[in-house]
This record gives sequence, structure tokens and C-alpha cells, in this order.
Amino acid sequence: MDKAKSTTSLLRVDGLTRRFRTSKGVITAVGEVSMTLDRGESVALVGGSGSGKSTLGRLIARLILPDAGTMFLDGLLIRAGRRPTRHERRLVQMVFQDPFGSLNPARTVADQVMRPLVIHGLHRGHERQRASELLEQVGLSPGSEFLDRFPHSLSGGQRQRVAIARALAPEPSLLIADEPTSMLDVSIRLDVLRTLRDLTEHKVGLLLITHDLASARYLADRVMVMQEGSIVEQGPIGQVIDAPQHPYTQQLLAAVAHQSPRRTQMERPHA
Ligand SMILES: Nc1ncnc2c1ncn2[C@@H]1O[C@H](COP(=O)(O)OP(=O)(O)O)[C@@H](O)[C@H]1O
Ligand SMILES: [Mg+2]
Repeated sequence: MDKAKSTTSLLRVDGLTRRFRTSKGVITAVGEVSMTLDRGESVALVGGSGSGKSTLGRLIARLILPDAGTMFLDGLLIRAGRRPTRHERRLVQMVFQDPFGSLNPARTVADQVMRPLVIHGLHRGHERQRASELLEQVGLSPGSEFLDRFPHSLSGGQRQRVAIARALAPEPSLLIADEPTSMLDVSIRLDVLRTLRDLTEHKVGLLLITHDLASARYLADRVMVMQEGSIVEQGPIGQVIDAPQHPYTQQLLAAVAHQSPRRTQMERPHA
């Protein structure tokens, strides 16, 4: 079977490639990307719009299949083109950018957080209690007060927290957050990032997709810079920000320096 021992990394990706056929011809959204991510590690994937970040995230989450490449996930070898098993889907969960679009407006918070529990047969008979605990874990406290509410009665930040709770429900090893704060009010972004950061203390690996280097700096141990489908630079976050080697990274940093007077608020507390 496809079971084989990997290294100790939670995730190892080798030569992952995904092309799309468009009206302008075939484009390579992700081209032979290789990377690793460890348990409890927080990695930021940064790059400009269209550089392939979301496609790489969706490939790792198995929402789309690659054209080539292999992946080791929690010791499981996953070959290109094979449809994911339910277990493989469970291992990686995603949080998306739009907290308004990602929740079902017709269902209560409890329904949405309990659904993955039911699908995966977790906490049988105690799903509601577990949903309440998950809400508290992401800062919606007391959880019981949120269970019977509908998305329209929640703020953007609260909705995004519900989306994070729902993503945690299947007990993933890896959480991929694709621009999770870019549609939120600036004043609450930091709180949501802090919630994500706290998850890594529970051994969840985190891949933060962002065009915002300040968020990356706040949250990530390591950064990977993506341009036109390739990782052009990677390293410890402080090192890459302080001494960027690749011209594209230098450009991204120069853009931040111009745009973001709030940057100092996003510095790591102890860095
Ligand atoms: N489903 C798709 N069909 C066609 N082209 C796509 C599709 N998804 C992404 N692309 C293209 O792939 C490239 C990378 O997109 P994406 O991964 O969304 O980049 P990013 O998240 O960095 O902005 C872009 O050129 C985009 O237009
Ligand atoms: Mg994207």
C-alpha cells in the first residue's frame, strides 16, 4: 500500500506541480515545489498575487490534485493524482480568507462545528459539548453562548474564529490558513493571528498563506517566498526579513516599508 515511513517531518513535499489550462494557454501555477513542515511548526508562505500560494495550499490540503510530485503526510506517502482517502482529508484542514462566504448562513454555529465531528465519528454522543470546547479554544467564550447563533449575528472576526474551530474539529495535524485576516478589521487581526499561533503549542503544524510580511513575522518560525510558482527563498523569519537574499523578497519588503505604518504593532512580542 501507500504506507511508508517518512522522515520526522509532518509534511514533506517533493516536486509538486500543478498546471491550469487557461484562455492564454497552459500556466504552471505551482512548479516542482519541495518543502517540509514539522509538527508544531509555523511556516509562512508569502508572495504577490498570482504567485501560486493558494494553489500550493489547496494541493497540500488535497482539495485539488497535482499533475506531478509526491507528498508525505504524517508518515503516509501520497502519490500525485490519487484521490485522497477520508483519513488524508482529515489530516489537513484549511481556513479561507472570506469569513462571510465560508460559513453556511442557514446553519447554526453548533451545526457547522459539529458536522466534521459527525463525519469522522469523533466524540460520539458528546458532539455539542466538544463544539463548545472548540469555540472556547479559539476565543469564543463561553462556547455555549455561541452554539445556537447564526453567522449573520456574528462579527467578521467571530465568524473567522468559528471557521477555525470547525477546521480544528477533525483534529488535523496541519492547518492551512489562506489569508485568514486580510478581510478582517485591522483592529482584530492581531487577536486572530494570536489564536492561530496558540494552536502550534498543541503540536498542530501551521501554514500561513499571506501577502503580508508583518503577519508572517508575528506568527511564523520560518518563511517561504513564492514567485511564479516557485519557492525562491526560505529561512528563519527574522533572517529573511533582516537580510533578504532574493531580489523578489527585497521588493516585497520594500513594498511593506511603504505601505504599513502599523508594522511595529505586529512585531513579535519577544523578538
Ligand atoms: N482553477 C484555476 N483555473 C485556472 N487558473 C488558475 C486556477 N487557480 C489558480 N489559477 C492561476 O494560477 C496562478 C496562481 O494562482 P493562486 O494560486 O491563486 O495565486 P495566489 O494565491 O498566490 O494569489 C494564477 O495565475 C491563477 O490565475
Ligand atoms: Mg491566494
